[in-house]
Amino acid sequence: MLIARTLHDLRTACTSLRRQADALAFVPTMGALHEGHCALVRAGVASGAATVASIFVNPLQFGANEDLTRYPRDEAGDLAKLEAEGCALAWLPDVTTMYPPGEATSISVSGPAERWEGEARPGHFRGVATVCAKLFGQVRPDRAYFGEKDWQQLQVVKRMVADLLLPVEIIGIETVRESDGLAMSSRNRFLSVGERAKAPLLIEVLRRAAERIVAEGEAHEPLSGAAHRLAVQGFICDYIALVDGPTMTPINRPAPEARLIVAARLGSVRLLDNIGLA
Ligand code: PAJ
Repeated sequence: MLIARTLHDLRTACTSLRRQADALAFVPTMGALHEGHCALVRAGVASGAATVASIFVNPLQFGANEDLTRYPRDEAGDLAKLEAEGCALAWLPDVTTMYPPGEATSISVSGPAERWEGEARPGHFRGVATVCAKLFGQVRPDRAYFGEKDWQQLQVVKRMVADLLLPVEIIGIETVRESDGLAMSSRNRFLSVGERAKAPLLIEVLRRAAERIVAEGEAHEPLSGAAHRLAVQGFICDYIALVDGPTMTPINRPAPEARLIVAARLGSVRLLDNIGLA
């Protein structure tokens, strides 16, 4: 596996990969890699593309009260995982490469970025969209893989790519879960033993609400039932909602593209999850 830490090295590596493979696949990450990230890399490799993964903890997507320094980092472990998955190139830029001195440009996002995480974390999706646009410009991949785990992020990136006419295909990959159903996340390590034992209730409650919404043909009652169950179990629910998948606008009835989304806190850890109605 090639490793690039400067733009010059990245360009040389990408040029040589483009000569060897029909297509370039790209997986942007912030490191602390787990099976969820690995599934994205695996999908790129399985498509036959030379697969590039980036590791960059993006300061622009962290709020003032969110601890950027607490973000877990394990470069050696991450590189070993990428290599084992058949990743062709790891791109590890530094902050000055991504945000050149005097930088004065960012991408403003609305539509699917406005509510939910957009409200809970002002500026977050501006940071995500800006860094993804920069990374796409650096790597120039044919396709890029994102996890459905961060459903709203996937919609924001798809919208940005459509609106800015960027020549990259965005592919969503199903959420990878622990055996008890908890969606894998780099935040899970911050759960205490007691919180970790409770955490799978989130997906259980979500699945039950999805069944009820389908059976009852409306979302209001099942959603209040779900919020109540979470509260009783000690979760602080930021939101639980049925939305139109691509636009993230709330809906009250089952629909083909409907998505059930939730954000809830257990102690200091904010857990996100989402499912379709099936
Ligand atoms: P990060 O949280 O490192 O996630 C990188 C990618 O892995 C994202 O597309 C995310 O949705 C996906 N992912 C995380 N957990 C997953 C799981 N359990 N199953 C499937 N996919 C999962 O998301 C970011 O980084 C950043 O915002 C980034 C896009 C890199 C921009 O900085």
